[in-house]
Amino acid sequence: MMISTDTAFIHADQVGLSFPGAPDVLAGVNFDIPKGQFVSIVGPSGCGKSSLLRVMSGLQTATAGQILLDGRSPGNARENNLRSAFVFQDPTLLPWRTVRSNVSLPFELRDRPPAEYRNHVRETIDLVGLTEHDADKRPRELSGGMRMRASLARALVTNPDLMLMDEPFAPLDDILRQQLNEEILRIWSDQKWTAVFITHNVSEAVFLSQRVLVMHPRPGRIAADLEIPFAYPRTSDLRATAEFAELIGQVSHELRRTVE
Ligand SMILES: Nc1ncnc2c1ncn2[C@@H]1O[C@H](COP(=O)(O)OP(=O)(O)OP(=O)(O)O)[C@@H](O)[C@H]1O
Ligand SMILES: [Mg+2]
Repeated sequence: MMISTDTAFIHADQVGLSFPGAPDVLAGVNFDIPKGQFVSIVGPSGCGKSSLLRVMSGLQTATAGQILLDGRSPGNARENNLRSAFVFQDPTLLPWRTVRSNVSLPFELRDRPPAEYRNHVRETIDLVGLTEHDADKRPRELSGGMRMRASLARALVTNPDLMLMDEPFAPLDDILRQQLNEEILRIWSDQKWTAVFITHNVSEAVFLSQRVLVMHPRPGRIAADLEIPFAYPRTSDLRATAEFAELIGQVSHELRRTVE
Protein backbone atom coordinates (compact mmCIF):
# COMPACT_ATOMS: atom_id res chain seq x y z
CA MET A 1 0.00 0.00 0.00
CA MET A 2 1.26 3.48 -0.85
CA ILE A 3 1.87 5.85 2.02
CA SER A 4 1.44 9.40 0.87
CA THR A 5 3.44 11.01 3.66
CA ASP A 6 6.57 9.32 4.98
CA THR A 7 6.42 11.03 8.33
CA ALA A 8 2.73 10.48 9.05
CA PHE A 9 1.99 8.05 11.83
CA ILE A 10 -1.72 8.81 11.50
CA HIS A 11 -2.82 9.69 8.00
CA ALA A 12 -6.43 10.74 7.43
CA ASP A 13 -7.29 10.86 3.77
CA GLN A 14 -10.73 12.22 2.83
CA VAL A 15 -12.29 10.37 5.74
CA GLY A 16 -16.08 10.22 5.66
CA LEU A 17 -18.57 8.57 7.94
CA SER A 18 -22.28 8.31 7.34
CA PHE A 19 -25.21 6.27 8.55
CA PRO A 20 -28.20 5.36 6.39
CA GLY A 21 -30.89 8.02 6.30
CA ALA A 22 -28.89 10.56 8.30
CA PRO A 23 -26.73 13.55 7.34
CA ASP A 24 -23.00 12.77 7.01
CA VAL A 25 -21.21 12.65 10.36
CA LEU A 26 -17.75 13.18 8.82
CA ALA A 27 -16.80 14.31 5.31
CA GLY A 28 -13.43 15.06 3.74
CA VAL A 29 -11.40 14.84 6.95
CA ASN A 30 -7.69 15.22 6.12
CA PHE A 31 -4.67 15.47 8.38
CA ASP A 32 -1.29 13.92 9.07
CA ILE A 33 0.03 13.37 12.57
CA PRO A 34 3.70 12.49 12.96
CA LYS A 35 4.81 9.81 15.42
CA GLY A 36 5.00 11.02 19.00
CA GLN A 37 3.04 14.22 18.47
CA PHE A 38 0.48 15.41 21.04
CA VAL A 39 -2.60 16.65 19.20
CA SER A 40 -5.88 17.88 20.64
CA ILE A 41 -9.19 18.09 18.83
CA VAL A 42 -11.78 20.67 19.81
CA GLY A 43 -15.14 21.41 18.22
CA PRO A 44 -18.78 22.03 19.06
CA SER A 45 -20.83 19.21 20.57
CA GLY A 46 -22.01 16.74 17.94
CA CYS A 47 -19.41 17.74 15.32
CA GLY A 48 -18.04 14.20 15.15
CA LYS A 49 -14.99 14.19 17.45
CA SER A 50 -15.82 10.90 19.18
CA SER A 51 -16.78 9.37 15.84
CA LEU A 52 -13.42 10.35 14.38
CA LEU A 53 -11.63 8.83 17.36
CA ARG A 54 -13.61 5.60 16.97
CA VAL A 55 -12.57 5.44 13.31
CA MET A 56 -8.92 5.92 14.36
CA SER A 57 -9.24 3.12 16.90
CA GLY A 58 -10.79 0.73 14.39
CA LEU A 59 -13.99 0.43 16.47
CA GLN A 60 -15.79 1.99 13.52
CA THR A 61 -14.92 1.85 9.82
CA ALA A 62 -14.86 4.97 7.66
CA THR A 63 -17.51 4.86 4.94
CA ALA A 64 -15.36 7.04 2.65
CA GLY A 65 -11.63 7.67 2.40
CA GLN A 66 -9.32 6.02 4.88
CA ILE A 67 -7.35 6.29 8.08
CA LEU A 68 -3.87 4.78 8.03
CA LEU A 69 -1.90 4.05 11.19
CA ASP A 70 1.75 3.65 10.32
CA GLY A 71 0.66 2.97 6.75
CA ARG A 72 -2.00 0.35 7.55
CA SER A 73 -5.72 0.30 8.22
CA PRO A 74 -6.49 0.39 11.97
CA GLY A 75 -7.50 -3.29 11.95
CA ASN A 76 -4.39 -4.31 10.05
CA ALA A 77 -2.19 -2.16 12.24
CA ARG A 78 -3.48 -3.97 15.31
CA GLU A 79 -2.72 -7.34 13.77
CA ASN A 80 0.79 -6.04 13.20
CA ASN A 81 1.19 -5.27 16.88
CA LEU A 82 0.55 -1.57 16.76
CA ARG A 83 -0.97 -0.92 20.16
CA SER A 84 -3.61 1.72 20.55
CA ALA A 85 -5.29 2.47 23.85
CA PHE A 86 -8.59 4.25 24.25
CA VAL A 87 -9.57 6.30 27.29
CA PHE A 88 -13.25 7.13 27.34
CA GLN A 89 -14.94 10.06 29.01
CA ASP A 90 -16.75 7.80 31.46
CA PRO A 91 -14.27 5.49 33.10
CA THR A 92 -15.14 2.00 31.86
CA LEU A 93 -13.73 0.17 34.86
CA LEU A 94 -15.37 -3.08 35.86
CA PRO A 95 -17.16 -2.29 39.13
CA TRP A 96 -16.62 -5.67 40.78
CA ARG A 97 -12.86 -5.63 40.24
CA THR A 98 -10.24 -3.77 42.24
CA VAL A 99 -8.10 -1.11 40.57
CA ARG A 100 -5.26 -3.61 40.38
CA SER A 101 -7.33 -6.26 38.67
CA ASN A 102 -8.89 -3.68 36.32
CA VAL A 103 -5.39 -2.59 35.29
CA SER A 104 -4.35 -6.25 34.90
CA LEU A 105 -7.28 -6.95 32.61
CA PRO A 106 -5.48 -6.46 29.26
CA PHE A 107 -3.01 -9.19 30.29
CA GLU A 108 -5.67 -11.52 31.68
CA LEU A 109 -7.59 -11.23 28.42
CA ARG A 110 -4.44 -12.44 26.64
CA ASP A 111 -3.98 -15.27 29.15
CA ARG A 112 -0.60 -14.02 30.35
CA PRO A 113 0.69 -15.52 33.61
CA PRO A 114 0.38 -13.04 36.54
CA ALA A 115 4.07 -13.30 37.43
CA GLU A 116 4.86 -11.76 34.06
CA TYR A 117 2.89 -8.54 34.52
CA ARG A 118 2.46 -8.08 38.30
CA ASN A 119 5.37 -5.65 38.70
CA HIS A 120 4.52 -3.69 35.60
CA VAL A 121 0.94 -3.27 36.82
CA ARG A 122 2.21 -2.04 40.19
CA GLU A 123 4.58 0.45 38.53
CA THR A 124 1.86 1.76 36.24
CA ILE A 125 -0.56 2.29 39.13
CA ASP A 126 2.22 4.20 40.90
CA LEU A 127 2.94 6.21 37.74
CA VAL A 128 -0.59 7.63 37.64
CA GLY A 129 -0.36 8.66 41.29
CA LEU A 130 -2.38 5.92 42.98
CA THR A 131 -1.08 4.17 46.10
CA GLU A 132 -0.84 0.46 46.86
CA HIS A 133 -3.78 1.01 49.20
CA ASP A 134 -5.88 2.55 46.36
CA ALA A 135 -4.96 -0.40 44.15
CA ASP A 136 -6.98 -2.75 46.33
CA LYS A 137 -10.14 -0.63 46.19
CA ARG A 138 -13.08 -1.03 43.85
CA PRO A 139 -14.12 1.84 41.55
CA ARG A 140 -17.07 2.92 43.71
CA GLU A 141 -14.69 3.45 46.65
CA LEU A 142 -12.69 6.00 44.62
CA SER A 143 -13.28 9.65 43.75
CA GLY A 144 -13.89 10.60 40.11
CA GLY A 145 -10.29 11.77 39.76
CA MET A 146 -8.94 8.52 41.15
CA ARG A 147 -11.19 6.52 38.81
CA MET A 148 -9.79 8.50 35.90
CA ARG A 149 -6.24 7.76 37.09
CA ALA A 150 -7.15 4.06 37.19
CA SER A 151 -8.54 4.26 33.62
CA LEU A 152 -5.34 5.94 32.47
CA ALA A 153 -3.32 3.20 34.14
CA ARG A 154 -5.31 0.53 32.35
CA ALA A 155 -4.56 2.25 29.03
CA LEU A 156 -0.88 2.90 29.79
CA VAL A 157 -0.16 -0.59 31.06
CA THR A 158 -0.24 -1.93 27.49
CA ASN A 159 2.69 0.35 26.47
CA PRO A 160 0.63 1.90 23.69
CA ASP A 161 2.00 3.45 20.52
CA LEU A 162 -1.14 5.54 20.26
CA MET A 163 -3.27 7.00 23.08
CA LEU A 164 -6.77 8.03 22.03
CA MET A 165 -8.41 10.06 24.79
CA ASP A 166 -12.01 11.25 24.62
CA GLU A 167 -12.59 14.07 27.12
CA PRO A 168 -10.92 12.08 29.89
CA PHE A 169 -10.82 14.95 32.39
CA ALA A 170 -14.14 16.62 31.61
CA PRO A 171 -15.89 15.70 34.87
CA LEU A 172 -13.03 16.86 37.10
CA ASP A 173 -12.67 20.17 38.92
CA ASP A 174 -10.29 22.64 37.32
CA ILE A 175 -7.39 22.29 39.73
CA LEU A 176 -7.44 18.51 39.52
CA ARG A 177 -7.71 18.75 35.75
CA GLN A 178 -4.64 21.00 35.62
CA GLN A 179 -2.76 18.62 37.85
CA LEU A 180 -3.64 15.64 35.66
CA ASN A 181 -2.69 17.66 32.57
CA GLU A 182 0.79 18.12 33.97
CA GLU A 183 1.00 14.45 34.94
CA ILE A 184 -0.13 13.18 31.57
CA LEU A 185 2.52 15.37 29.91
CA ARG A 186 5.18 13.99 32.23
CA ILE A 187 4.22 10.43 31.28
CA TRP A 188 4.01 11.32 27.58
CA SER A 189 7.46 12.98 27.66
CA ASP A 190 8.82 9.80 29.11
CA GLN A 191 6.98 7.25 26.97
CA LYS A 192 6.51 9.19 23.73
CA TRP A 193 3.30 7.65 22.46
CA THR A 194 1.33 9.58 19.88
CA ALA A 195 -1.61 11.32 21.54
CA VAL A 196 -4.98 12.34 20.17
CA PHE A 197 -6.87 14.13 22.91
CA ILE A 198 -10.44 15.39 22.64
CA THR A 199 -11.60 18.19 24.89
CA HIS A 200 -14.08 21.05 25.12
CA ASN A 201 -11.62 22.96 27.28
CA VAL A 202 -9.51 25.28 25.13
CA SER A 203 -7.00 25.97 27.89
CA GLU A 204 -6.45 22.25 28.36
CA ALA A 205 -5.98 21.76 24.60
CA VAL A 206 -3.39 24.55 24.39
CA PHE A 207 -1.57 23.50 27.53
CA LEU A 208 -1.16 19.88 26.45
CA SER A 209 -0.66 19.98 22.73
CA GLN A 210 1.84 20.68 20.03
CA ARG A 211 -1.10 21.17 17.74
CA VAL A 212 -4.84 21.81 18.03
CA LEU A 213 -7.29 20.73 15.34
CA VAL A 214 -10.58 22.61 15.32
CA MET A 215 -13.54 20.69 13.90
CA HIS A 216 -16.49 22.16 12.06
CA PRO A 217 -19.92 20.50 12.39
CA ARG A 218 -22.41 19.08 9.85
CA PRO A 219 -20.55 17.37 8.36
CA GLY A 220 -17.57 17.02 10.67
CA ARG A 221 -14.35 18.26 9.10
CA ILE A 222 -11.15 20.04 10.07
CA ALA A 223 -11.67 23.81 10.06
CA ALA A 224 -8.32 24.92 11.50
CA ASP A 225 -4.98 23.42 12.40
CA LEU A 226 -3.04 25.53 14.91
CA GLU A 227 0.51 24.98 16.05
CA ILE A 228 1.21 25.43 19.77
CA PRO A 229 4.90 26.34 19.89
CA PHE A 230 5.68 26.19 23.63
CA ALA A 231 8.62 24.02 24.68
CA TYR A 232 8.21 21.07 27.03
CA PRO A 233 8.28 20.46 29.91
CA ARG A 234 5.33 22.79 30.40
CA THR A 235 4.52 23.81 33.93
CA SER A 236 1.66 25.76 35.47
CA ASP A 237 3.68 29.00 35.04
CA LEU A 238 2.90 28.79 31.33
CA ARG A 239 -0.81 29.30 32.04
CA ALA A 240 -0.10 32.80 33.37
CA THR A 241 1.80 34.04 30.30
CA ALA A 242 0.52 36.45 27.67
CA GLU A 243 1.56 34.03 24.91
CA PHE A 244 -0.64 31.33 26.43
CA ALA A 245 -3.60 33.72 26.60
CA GLU A 246 -2.95 34.75 23.00
CA LEU A 247 -3.17 31.14 21.77
CA ILE A 248 -6.31 30.50 23.79
CA GLY A 249 -7.76 33.54 22.04
CA GLN A 250 -6.80 32.17 18.62
CA VAL A 251 -8.30 28.72 19.23
CA SER A 252 -11.46 30.25 20.73
CA HIS A 253 -11.79 32.51 17.70
CA GLU A 254 -11.59 29.51 15.35
CA LEU A 255 -14.13 27.66 17.50
CA ARG A 256 -16.58 30.55 17.39
CA ARG A 257 -16.30 30.66 13.61
CA THR A 258 -17.47 27.03 13.40
CA VAL A 259 -20.86 27.92 14.90
CA GLU A 260 -21.46 31.27 13.19
N1 LIG B 1 -24.25 4.93 15.22
C1 LIG B 1 -24.71 6.13 14.83
N2 LIG B 1 -25.81 6.23 14.05
C2 LIG B 1 -26.27 7.43 13.65
N3 LIG B 1 -25.70 8.61 13.98
C3 LIG B 1 -24.61 8.57 14.73
C4 LIG B 1 -24.04 7.34 15.21
N4 LIG B 1 -22.94 7.65 15.94
C5 LIG B 1 -22.84 8.99 15.94
N5 LIG B 1 -23.83 9.55 15.23
C6 LIG B 1 -24.05 10.98 14.99
O1 LIG B 1 -22.80 11.56 14.71
C7 LIG B 1 -22.77 12.92 15.15
C8 LIG B 1 -21.46 13.17 15.86
O2 LIG B 1 -21.44 12.47 17.09
P1 LIG B 1 -20.14 12.43 18.00
O3 LIG B 1 -20.48 11.66 19.22
O4 LIG B 1 -19.01 11.96 17.18
O5 LIG B 1 -19.96 13.99 18.33
P2 LIG B 1 -18.94 14.70 19.33
O6 LIG B 1 -18.25 15.77 18.56
O7 LIG B 1 -18.10 13.68 20.00
O8 LIG B 1 -19.93 15.38 20.38
P3 LIG B 1 -19.70 15.69 21.95
O9 LIG B 1 -18.79 16.89 22.01
O10 LIG B 1 -21.07 16.04 22.44
O11 LIG B 1 -19.13 14.48 22.60
C9 LIG B 1 -24.00 13.12 15.99
O12 LIG B 1 -24.92 13.87 15.23
C10 LIG B 1 -24.51 11.73 16.23
O13 LIG B 1 -25.90 11.70 16.33
MG1 LIG C 1 -17.88 13.05 21.97
